[in-house]
Amino acid sequence: MGTEQDLKRTSWLIKQLYAPDAFARRDETDDKIFYSVDRFVEHLDSVALATVERVVGSLVVEKEPVILDLMASWDSHIPPNTKPSSVTGIGLNKNELAGNPALTQYLVHDLNDNPFLPLPDDTFDAVLNTVSIDYMTQPVEIFREVGRVLKPNGVFLVIFSNRMFPQKVVKAWWRMNEEERVTFVEELFKYVDMFDPPKTFVSRNKARPPDDKHAHLGIPSDPVYVVYADKKGPYPLPRPELLDD
Ligand SMILES: C[S@@+](CC[C@H](N)C(=O)[O-])C[C@H]1O[C@@H](n2cnc3c(N)ncnc32)[C@H](O)[C@@H]1O
Repeated sequence: MGTEQDLKRTSWLIKQLYAPDAFARRDETDDKIFYSVDRFVEHLDSVALATVERVVGSLVVEKEPVILDLMASWDSHIPPNTKPSSVTGIGLNKNELAGNPALTQYLVHDLNDNPFLPLPDDTFDAVLNTVSIDYMTQPVEIFREVGRVLKPNGVFLVIFSNRMFPQKVVKAWWRMNEEERVTFVEELFKYVDMFDPPKTFVSRNKARPPDDKHAHLGIPSDPVYVVYADKKGPYPLPRPELLDD
């Protein structure tokens, strides 16, 4: 039995999930059309990107991890000190995936068309999902699938910021503020009931690098939110408590 606060949070999530248009997008055409255009761009500024690499390097503590980069493009944000034994990428743009030097294999697979991952059970030490959760139209099914393909005690890192392709983002995400998005992702982890309690790391209000193209606007560096949890299992690995620097 959850606490009253748990129940309130769950009913709030259910309200989000069951709003009739929660997972509709402004552009409902086939995602494969939108992502057929190559985008070899950075989705975050360089300070935020360095934070993402640090987070991945700190939390993926397994030696020679087997990694899945879910909704991957040309950069998996895996730092040089992390030496994966393999990295599988799933995304929609073949050229971007083929240009990603971290990937040892990739699959072009539309998760909104079919949220089931064409991958075996209990395979990965870590699953990364970077700046892409806002495009999932069936996040519960995808979280369940991540739970299935992770090894017991493997980790799922959901990393996001506040930039987006507005035409492809789901309306529930668009309507939430940044704090609510963190809660939403935490609740997804709890809802599927395959993970240990999720933890959260937030980095925001850092100075934008002076050479950044938006520096003259006086806005801070892109925020980085990370909600992560281990798949339930018998031998939890100690992952460090992350602090913003
Ligand atoms: C903002 S980009 C982020 C790419 C990469 N994760 C990164 O950190 O740079 C969003 C990515 O999500 C992928 N994506 C979007 N919709 C998808 C879908 N329906 N199925 C699979 N991948 C999708 C796209 O291929 C695109 O690379």
